[in-house]
Amino acid sequence: MIEFHPATRTFYLALHTSYYAFYVDDDGRVLHLGWGVSPNPQSKIQNPKLAESYLSLSSFDFQLLPQEILTFGDVTSTRESLKVSFGQLGQPLAEGEAAHLPVRDVRLRYTGHEVSETAVPGLAPTHGLPTAVTTPRQTLLVHLQAPLYPTFRATLHYRLTPEHDVLERWVTLENSGENPVAIETCAFASLHLPHGTTQLTSLAGAWAREFTTERTILPHGSHITESRTLQTGHSANPVWLLNRPHQAWEESGTVYFAALAYSGSWQTAIEHLPHGAIRLHAGYNPFDFALTLAAGEQHTTPALVCGVSDNGWGGASRRLHAFTRERILPAPQPRPVLYNSWEATYFNVTVQNQITLARKAAEFGVELFCVDDGWFGGRRHDRAGLGDWVVSPEAFPDGLRPLVDEIHSLGMKFGLWVEPEMVNADSDLYRAHPDWVLHFPGRPRTEARNQLILDFGRPEVVEHIFGLLDALVREYDIAFFKWDMNRNASEPGSVAGRGIWRAHVAGVYGVMDRLRRNHPQLDIQSCSGGGGRIDLGILGRVDQVWTSDNTDAFDRIRIQEGFSLGYPARAMEAWVTHEQNHITQRVAPLSLRFDVAMRGVLGIGSSLNELSAAELEQYASYIAFYKQFRHVVQNGHLYRLERLEEGGASAVQYVLPNGREAVFSMALRDYQVGHFRPRPILRGLNGEGVYTAVNRHGAEVLRATGYELMTLGIPREPQEHVGYSRTLYLRQE
Ligand code: DGJ
Repeated sequence: MIEFHPATRTFYLALHTSYYAFYVDDDGRVLHLGWGVSPNPQSKIQNPKLAESYLSLSSFDFQLLPQEILTFGDVTSTRESLKVSFGQLGQPLAEGEAAHLPVRDVRLRYTGHEVSETAVPGLAPTHGLPTAVTTPRQTLLVHLQAPLYPTFRATLHYRLTPEHDVLERWVTLENSGENPVAIETCAFASLHLPHGTTQLTSLAGAWAREFTTERTILPHGSHITESRTLQTGHSANPVWLLNRPHQAWEESGTVYFAALAYSGSWQTAIEHLPHGAIRLHAGYNPFDFALTLAAGEQHTTPALVCGVSDNGWGGASRRLHAFTRERILPAPQPRPVLYNSWEATYFNVTVQNQITLARKAAEFGVELFCVDDGWFGGRRHDRAGLGDWVVSPEAFPDGLRPLVDEIHSLGMKFGLWVEPEMVNADSDLYRAHPDWVLHFPGRPRTEARNQLILDFGRPEVVEHIFGLLDALVREYDIAFFKWDMNRNASEPGSVAGRGIWRAHVAGVYGVMDRLRRNHPQLDIQSCSGGGGRIDLGILGRVDQVWTSDNTDAFDRIRIQEGFSLGYPARAMEAWVTHEQNHITQRVAPLSLRFDVAMRGVLGIGSSLNELSAAELEQYASYIAFYKQFRHVVQNGHLYRLERLEEGGASAVQYVLPNGREAVFSMALRDYQVGHFRPRPILRGLNGEGVYTAVNRHGAEVLRATGYELMTLGIPREPQEHVGYSRTLYLRQE
């Protein structure tokens, strides 16, 4: 609900358990008033005077007004949301005054507002697939203008998804004048958090170590996280949770959350100002940034998704999960059990070895068979072939058709790995178009993993790639692309100039959206050397993501726990691979490998030829078990009952919103003899209901009321040890 109180020019946005309020002051500035947990959904704030005290202690504090958009002009000594540079003055020069061009001073003042039910942020999906929930949402548009340069306007957007306490914020900038206007920095939004909200939970990492949860108390100053490349990045993921230190925990306390819906070069600065104010500015990375609005042009940024939870970090995660499942991911469906041949055959792909794997996979219940890297062009290793998206005659002498037909006749869908943004120097594409890669003329072109990045600033390159992929899907009835992206950017020379950072993202999104529009049966998985492109922007056009190349179940417990902070299990592809992991060399029991992979979208990546008949039977039994309850994992609410940091165990629960079905999963990564962990206490069940819990063999291991499970919890087992795990499926009778 959006309310405006004209007497005080106060805006009050009411969400399910939270509110957001701001007002317009006498000078037309739009000032933040408050954001937090709402004590009473029926009431509202109308009196902005309450917020006006103690902003200023000295003459050094004159720029501390909490404006909803902080512009370079109104502020220079704190961080800004927007910096604009005008090549003209906008009004006549006073006599004797020098022009001091360009003028880097923009002050935006309120001119009006409206409510829309159709507003969308920049780079919103255009594939036309509906999300799970499509009911219209209200967006408040607050119009601002620069009085001293009236042809420059900005519109602040606030879209409400009240049921999840989620606000999406973005900005539209418009130049209706005759001269170009240069945008120098541009956040999608700046958020004002209550003073002292200094405990930050965030996600950092590296290749094979993605989604490492970090918790810290912010010192004064600015805490910067960013991506300086063309994808979201491994080193930091754009999700943040913030609360007052020692005032929030897993299931209690007020927690603010924010996440970016953008997959390019982003930056977030969390500013802890001298008097304790906390501001979060998130949007385009100012690194190598340029955005010029030509005469009559406007630009709409993607969204910063944010909200408040009144039930801790868990509540923040569940709100983000539900929002993503219902409003971001393409329409829901049970995600199929996938087999991927990468770790079985690597680049040694042949029609025969893929058919052998497919037959075995089909026998134990796989529903989607994906051929990974190595099926195309001269791709017998990672030094050649990228860019040549034609079937390799060496691997498939009769084309892909025999394999595709075999997979279809086995009752599975067919998927292919692609890396469309890349080219090997040793490829027909590069030989034909050496100018089609990012580079600066006459300068070195640094290769990483022997590959260069195609210049998606060139429309003809995007068109070329789209044409090839579109033809592939059409010819082979492809149901799934694993869309990979395996290097960071260097030498970002492009025909799009510095605009390449945005053009690349727009190009990738555009190709994905067009493919999906043309082929509604096509699903896409986002992969970037594992989890390098995971954010709420890419999730608008893909069905799932490859969480990490690290499939070691022991490491996966931690990686997946971090992933769950911001993203739903329905999007999290997780494979069971070899007993001895190829990356870490660690050995993990099959039970742990399955129990951990079944926490998301189950996939298999093992070398099936190395498995005994008995092992294959076990695979079949686990997959059948997973299929019984995957709807709960993929659509239920997630509770992190016990986190690794508490003592080496991870216990999670998924429960359907009606409380009638739940999945309990626990895994022990570390274990101290003589230390008895607390019994995991379940949540979200129906107190009076009677539940039976079954294991993979269908054996009833527990029968109890919801009340008992939510008070006494799940009994521990005596044989718990490092690597011990269990999954139980609970149903109300
Ligand atoms: C990186 C991905 O993360 C892997 O799963 C695999 O697809 C390789 N690329 C293939 O080159």
